Amino acid sequence: MTKEQIKSIIDQMTLEEKISFCSGHDAWHAESLARLGVPEIMMCDGPHGLRKRDRNEKGEAYTVKATCFPPACAMANSWDPSLAERVGKTIGEECRAEQVSILLGPGMNIKRSPTCGRNFEYYSEDPYLSGKISSAFIKGVQGEGVAACAKHFFVNNQETRRFSTSANLSQRALHEIYLPSFEMAVREAGVATVMHSYNRVNGKYAGEDKEMVTDLLRGKWGFDGYVMSDWNAISDRVAAYKAGTDVEMPPSNGIRDREVLEAYKNGEITMEEIDNSVANVLGVIFRHLPAEKKGTFSPDEHHLAAAKAAEECMVLLKNDGVLPFESGKPLAVIGGFAKKPRFQGGGSSHVEPLRVDDITEYLNAENGIEVTYADGYDASHNTSAELIAEAVNAAKTCGRAVIFAGMPDSYETEGRDRRHMKLPPAHNELIKAVCEACDKVAVVLMAGSPNELPWVNEAPAILHAYLGGQALGGAVARIVFGKVNPSGKLAETHPVRFEDNPAYLNFAGDGDECFYGEDIYVGYRWYDTRKMDVMFPFGHGLSYTEFEYTSIKVEGRTVTVTVKNIGDRAGKEVVQLYLSACPHPVISGFVGESSFGFKRPEKWLVGFEKVELAAGEEKAVAFELCDRAFSVYDAKIKDFRVIDGDYTVSAAASSRDIRLTAVIGIEADRSIPVITKNTVFEDLFYDKRYPKRVVDELVKALIPAAGADNGEGLDFEAMRDQNRFVLRQKITSIKCGRSIDELVEKANADIREHYANN
Ligand code: BGC
Repeated sequence: MTKEQIKSIIDQMTLEEKISFCSGHDAWHAESLARLGVPEIMMCDGPHGLRKRDRNEKGEAYTVKATCFPPACAMANSWDPSLAERVGKTIGEECRAEQVSILLGPGMNIKRSPTCGRNFEYYSEDPYLSGKISSAFIKGVQGEGVAACAKHFFVNNQETRRFSTSANLSQRALHEIYLPSFEMAVREAGVATVMHSYNRVNGKYAGEDKEMVTDLLRGKWGFDGYVMSDWNAISDRVAAYKAGTDVEMPPSNGIRDREVLEAYKNGEITMEEIDNSVANVLGVIFRHLPAEKKGTFSPDEHHLAAAKAAEECMVLLKNDGVLPFESGKPLAVIGGFAKKPRFQGGGSSHVEPLRVDDITEYLNAENGIEVTYADGYDASHNTSAELIAEAVNAAKTCGRAVIFAGMPDSYETEGRDRRHMKLPPAHNELIKAVCEACDKVAVVLMAGSPNELPWVNEAPAILHAYLGGQALGGAVARIVFGKVNPSGKLAETHPVRFEDNPAYLNFAGDGDECFYGEDIYVGYRWYDTRKMDVMFPFGHGLSYTEFEYTSIKVEGRTVTVTVKNIGDRAGKEVVQLYLSACPHPVISGFVGESSFGFKRPEKWLVGFEKVELAAGEEKAVAFELCDRAFSVYDAKIKDFRVIDGDYTVSAAASSRDIRLTAVIGIEADRSIPVITKNTVFEDLFYDKRYPKRVVDELVKALIPAAGADNGEGLDFEAMRDQNRFVLRQKITSIKCGRSIDELVEKANADIREHYANN
């Protein structure tokens, strides 16, 4: 549908129709207008499967069954955008089959605290990884003609007081950590809809922030779909409208439509503002019309796709050589999760799965002989002397055991944050007892977030299945018996203690105010900069083979890393690329090494690639680094800015397993710099755009005692003490008879001349 056609529809709508068009028809449908040929489209939750609410013949509500894929917490561990795209495509197919036009996902909020109740719906603590995986997922969904929805925009990192809390954070943290996933969803994946979040940000409700919803999202990033509210998020419909929130979901029975009408009559809202929103909605509707009739898909094929995804997402955290298990020998299988696994979280994303693997069946099949099962804990996740004795006996008799443990449903659900990072005490007790009695034990964890593991040193092997979706059973069995070589890597740090996490002191706020005191230091940016011990670092994950990083080469901004599989079986390695700012020559010693007055984390992720390698095979992976990799967000200019200088680029197997490094020098900023009397000496010394001769001359005039010129200019290192001053503060020492303004003017003229000639 062309812009003109949309305009012609709008021209035929009454004001009341336009206003009512900007709220849903009901909880799951956009408004339609049969008179003008605007059909009704349906939107449904997901995101890791279709959650379509429907009614049966008796009028009773139910959820249509669908394939349940691994939720975002697991998908991110794949570090494989092409996999995320395939999963998105498969879910898109199910949406088409069910005539659904909008899938309400993915959720792409950053995991600020390991205890956020909705972490299982989110991808990572790192914005780049989160953005790459979620964008790929969006491309997959939208490739099927179904609109995706980037949610929850923005800074929605806790469930506590989610309708009233304010996330209070710096502009740097906002733009460097919490917004990039959304930006990628718009710029790289062209996401069709955005859902704003419940919370406030720096005091303002997310959907009422014009600077974000209109100026940034639409204006700067180029979003051209429609923005809807989260369900019942609207506080002030008129304010939200004016900020750029196009649609209220679900509708308010006309109550807020009347408020909007009133606001129009009072001149608070213009017809243009209303028309813009209607046009945004119509654009999405006509681009994502539902399939004409219901379709079908193959549940078997989709189950296989879910199994494949699960295999790529599980992370082998530890292996003292017990895994993979050999087939055909007795095996004790312990823990109720083996029979009734945890494979997704609770709340609006809960998918009604088409089927769920019984893990024991798959273990039997892979093992070739039947396994011995023991409950270990009861349905309420309590244990007893008898249950433990039964488990210990099974492990002793079989000589090897796999224990299934993790967080019960009640621990991980929308609407509630956890107060700790513990597993149920019964699970810990059981694992300790079995590990004491048997030395060939593998623990399989099922949880969407990190936990404290008091038995981590005693367990010989730990496989983290995260929440693996409906087909996790086969995936677990194939990894445990070595049919599949594990290749997942952690998308979040697993700290040693709850108290270590960056948000610990501030989460989840004082009343309705939550201070993001850790600032840009989220996840490994915090643990690594503070050089803290962690249990398992970001990016960590073992394989049954070994990889050697054989070379790193830098050419311009292209970094090429070569990796070799030096083991005896095929496997996949996730090559990670991090940057660190080289210690600044003048100002070193601050946290994160300050450059230009900006602090930098010890390292940050700028690239990754999952490479498949046969035994003995070697491959080169090239990474192209763009400006953003070297940038900080400068609140003064309200934009990102490349910081010139030298950077260490590290090829790594995890954030704590750096294999190779090289130096890359960046000189990107070619603008002509300007000096003012309030320029800080530090900036003058650091910013390579200032011609050294000009700086030397100015400094000498202002600080007559400045160090000797060694032929290459003044020794700035010797002048560290001056770094805290701005130029005008040296006014009293000017001996040359010129005023500070004259000196500055002369310096700027010299700079301009320098650039004119160079
Ligand atoms: C959740 C959204 C969800 C919506 C519709 C809200 O409570 O925050 O993520 O899409 O409900 O179910």
